[in-house]
Amino acid sequence: MSNSNPGEKPPEKSTGLHIGEAGPGVKKVDPILVADHVSRSFGGLTAVDVEHLEIPRGAITALIGPNGAGKTTLFNLLTGFDKPDSGSWSFSGSDLAGLPAHKVARMGQVRTFQLTKALGLLTVLENMKLGAKNQTGESLFKSIFPSLWKKQEAEIEARALEILERFRLLKLKDDFAASLSGGQRKLLEMARALMSEPTLVMLDEPMAGVNPALTESLLGHILNLKAQGMTVLFVEHDMQMVRHIADWVVVMAEGCVIAEGPPDVVMKNEAVVDAYLGSHQDVDLGVVTGRFTEPKGTS
Ligand SMILES: Nc1ncnc2c1ncn2[C@@H]1O[C@H](COP(=O)(O)OP(=O)(O)O)[C@@H](O)[C@H]1O
Ligand SMILES: [Mg+2]
Repeated sequence: MSNSNPGEKPPEKSTGLHIGEAGPGVKKVDPILVADHVSRSFGGLTAVDVEHLEIPRGAITALIGPNGAGKTTLFNLLTGFDKPDSGSWSFSGSDLAGLPAHKVARMGQVRTFQLTKALGLLTVLENMKLGAKNQTGESLFKSIFPSLWKKQEAEIEARALEILERFRLLKLKDDFAASLSGGQRKLLEMARALMSEPTLVMLDEPMAGVNPALTESLLGHILNLKAQGMTVLFVEHDMQMVRHIADWVVVMAEGCVIAEGPPDVVMKNEAVVDAYLGSHQDVDLGVVTGRFTEPKGTS
């Protein structure tokens, strides 16, 4: 059974996530990720300069901010795909700074990309298998323990098929990833991320370029991750979407965190409205992306 109909009743929000007054860098009751003084510049441009940030465990946090705010760069830094000029951060209490991406993923922190990285010349199923945790260093394992290795292979395949079914991609398992639609590729990338049994899933614009018919199911999948006990951090421009599924919102502008809080509170924050809209302060953020012409009211 899956609760893949988020439209029918509003998802239950997690509350009581922070300690003290909500604002940039506010402490969380149970943070899964804690970052300090993380900065990265490109030439003279400071892309990221985050003083302190805590991501609450077991909740859905949206990272929002105008284009160029540094959201993707922050994702790259926290997941080991890029190196910061300074800073430290920990995941579930382990120091992560300087760890390469594959080790970060093995510790349970995975991410997807704004532009999908599914390997087009591999099939959907092969892409899934590549997402499994114990893929590296297998050749030795394989030659010393062939039967154990076969058992592991079978388990990986079973898990892949099960996740593909959940994402309604099972019929496409033998198709090349290159033949999928943009939306299906986004689904595949998310499905593949789950192969490593992560505890923190970071999604960079999971809905971007996805056909509206698929956004509802993507939304359901994100809610399901939380229902299964995972923590989600996702970048999204659509404020209706953010309002609907996020428990907590972190706002970046010009590399810094400028606001944090529950969705309804943050979206009324003047600094946030300014960062997005310049002088048009009476425009509802729900219509910023144009995906929804009329805000459906606050929930
Ligand atoms: N590899 C890079 N080289 C030079 N500048 C970069 C690079 N990556 C990002 N930037 C710059 O850093 C800033 C933040 O970019 P990015 O993190 O992609 O923002 P966002 O994801 O919030 O739209 C932008 O000004 C962007 O042009
Ligand atoms: Mg980006």
